[in-house]
Amino acid sequence: MQTISQPVVRVSRHGKIAVVTIDNPPVNALSDTVRASLVQVLPELAEDPTVAAVVLTGQNGQFVAGADIREMSRPPAQPFLPEVVAAIDAMKKPILAAIDGAALGGGLELALACDLRVGTERSRVGLPETKLGVIPGAGGTQRLPRLTGVATALELIGSAKIISGKEALHLGILDALMPEDRMLTDVIALAENTSKRRLSEHDVPCASKTDVQDAEKSTLKRAKGATAVLEAVRVVKAAETEPFAQGLFLEREAFLRLRESDEAKALRYLFLAERATGRLPASEKAQPRHFSRIGIIGGGTMGAGIAVTTADAALNVVIIERDAAAVAACQKRIASLYAKQIETKRITEEEAERRFKKIQISHEWDVLKNVDFVIEAAFESMEVKEDIFRSLNKVVQAHTVVATNTSYLDLDAIAGCAERPENVLGLHFFSPAHIMRLVEVIRGAKTAPDALATAIALGRKIQKLPVVAAVGEGFIGNRIFSHYRKHAEYLMEDGVSPQDIDQAMQSYGFAMGPFAVADLSGLDIAWAMRKRQSATRNPNERYVKIPDMFCEAGRLGRKTGKGWYSYVAASPELDDEACALIEAGRKQAGSRHVKLSAEAIQRRLLAVLANEGAKVLESGVASSASDIDIVFVNGYGFPRIQGGPMFAADKMGLPNVLREVEAAATVGGAGSEPSALLIQLVQSGGSFTAGIT
Ligand code: COA
Repeated sequence: MQTISQPVVRVSRHGKIAVVTIDNPPVNALSDTVRASLVQVLPELAEDPTVAAVVLTGQNGQFVAGADIREMSRPPAQPFLPEVVAAIDAMKKPILAAIDGAALGGGLELALACDLRVGTERSRVGLPETKLGVIPGAGGTQRLPRLTGVATALELIGSAKIISGKEALHLGILDALMPEDRMLTDVIALAENTSKRRLSEHDVPCASKTDVQDAEKSTLKRAKGATAVLEAVRVVKAAETEPFAQGLFLEREAFLRLRESDEAKALRYLFLAERATGRLPASEKAQPRHFSRIGIIGGGTMGAGIAVTTADAALNVVIIERDAAAVAACQKRIASLYAKQIETKRITEEEAERRFKKIQISHEWDVLKNVDFVIEAAFESMEVKEDIFRSLNKVVQAHTVVATNTSYLDLDAIAGCAERPENVLGLHFFSPAHIMRLVEVIRGAKTAPDALATAIALGRKIQKLPVVAAVGEGFIGNRIFSHYRKHAEYLMEDGVSPQDIDQAMQSYGFAMGPFAVADLSGLDIAWAMRKRQSATRNPNERYVKIPDMFCEAGRLGRKTGKGWYSYVAASPELDDEACALIEAGRKQAGSRHVKLSAEAIQRRLLAVLANEGAKVLESGVASSASDIDIVFVNGYGFPRIQGGPMFAADKMGLPNVLREVEAAATVGGAGSEPSALLIQLVQSGGSFTAGIT
């Protein structure tokens, strides 16, 4: 039987008005077939004497979400998007864009070439290309400033911001908002009386020089050196000084160059990886259970953050605290989280009030009788958690999924205290939980598939990135990170200063180096872990005593004013005591006093990250290399433009990575050996992340 595929572009007639509907599920991306159909259909309608005006719209509740990101890694295929936009621009008849849902990137560029843009309250518009390492490539950098002025265009394009229909109306990007159910009918009626208004023929509105300078300054500051943003600023500013055609030429040249850059490749990879994560293979797929009321045990920093993020997603929350005093303290904590959001203009006072009302705080466990999902965020102690799970047996319903937020305790042992271990799993949030997107979803030995599916669905509902991991010390992130930290300490004991290591990793793009991170989270955390592991540690693993010496000297990090660095002066510094402790430790260990360049430090630490990542894959704790990358980019400050440690390792070349790991193994001893998977990939010429880009 022959299957006839649905056309991706349809034309319908409403009297003298032709409606062109783009229908390329799920988001009407501008694939090559969509572009080809549009460049065929539009000139036909332009020539058709029975057509007075054209309305361009999208099916699937969207206008157009932009260029097809999956196509961007292939050689460009004709017709290119600028040709489609040129066909719209060339229309002598009025052409209107009816925008419900997303008009992003190339989608907004189509709309900007139209004479009028109508949206709905559901519209989301923006030119987010810089987030993908490129700039708009089909006129967006030249038409948007002609509509909004250069300052606003710089801010929107430079920050890759997606704005609501209301905001777009306010900025003049949309000309009107209409009710969703009537939009198309109303736009068709409007089309009869619309006249031509080509932005390409307009001048950029005059703006104050200071506004433009301020916008440029703040855009560049936020960009932290991202090449695409620097290029976007240059090209958007050209809209003011160059004729339209020259502006288009500059834009296209920059777009094509950036498209092939390593940054763009890494960002495209992450875009697709982040959408693929949490998708279980067909054999493990299950229908999530219903959930609308969420219980949280413990309203400390973590519990309060989880509560806020859950209420943000319009779910009802009940927090359980120990007693009335703890309830009052939790109430205050949550109020201050909302106050901060109001202060930073993330939400309005009314919105904060509405969300706060969704959170109930109680010390009566009975309120948990009606919840569908419980997240235990109590003190990190096996005894405490076991107690809680035993108490939960008496209140929760048979369908209630129960998650522990433990970061290192044995999930299966905790589940052993539950009457229904099949309902138990881990949800490892990162602090602050209402800001960090990452959540590791830990599948226990007995976790039921539908309980796991429910946790993933909850993670998505609260706008997080749920990455599934199996039980194992430190799950994905903490395990790999602790290995990275160990190797940073080996380098330090061997003679490289903590400052040089931190600076090297910062110049690679990390938000902070490993020693500054340790100061922030507290040196006592890793100290406690080392003590816990001391009985089982392989005697052939190298052990650096210097961190213990720092802890014994009371230097626990920022919270004690001193850790690796001293925080007494205006900027953190390695003080005399720190230098003396390091020197004493080096002496005891018979340090070799090696010197390494920033590049050599980066190579070493990247290689050990990827090698431990490969071991995490081998052990089945992570199911894909891209999950590891997502964890590091979203939870550990790994630079997004480098794609994550596994992607970066592929870029470095796995034979080079293996050589570096072999060198690291001679320094680190047991536990630092090359992973079997890395060796096998080197032998087969494979890579960690092939298949996603
Ligand atoms: N090209 C190709 N596929 C795209 C896409 C694009 N521009 N935008 C979204 N998709 C795909 C996603 O990969 C996902 O596919 P999958 O289900 O096979 O994984 C699907 O569309 C739904 O996307 P998702 O992000 O999960 O849905 P959402 O409703 O949360 O968000 C958007 C929808 C459009 C707001 C969001 O996908 C988005 O921001 N897209 C990128 C827009 C963009 O950057 N455009 C400029 C391109 S240069």
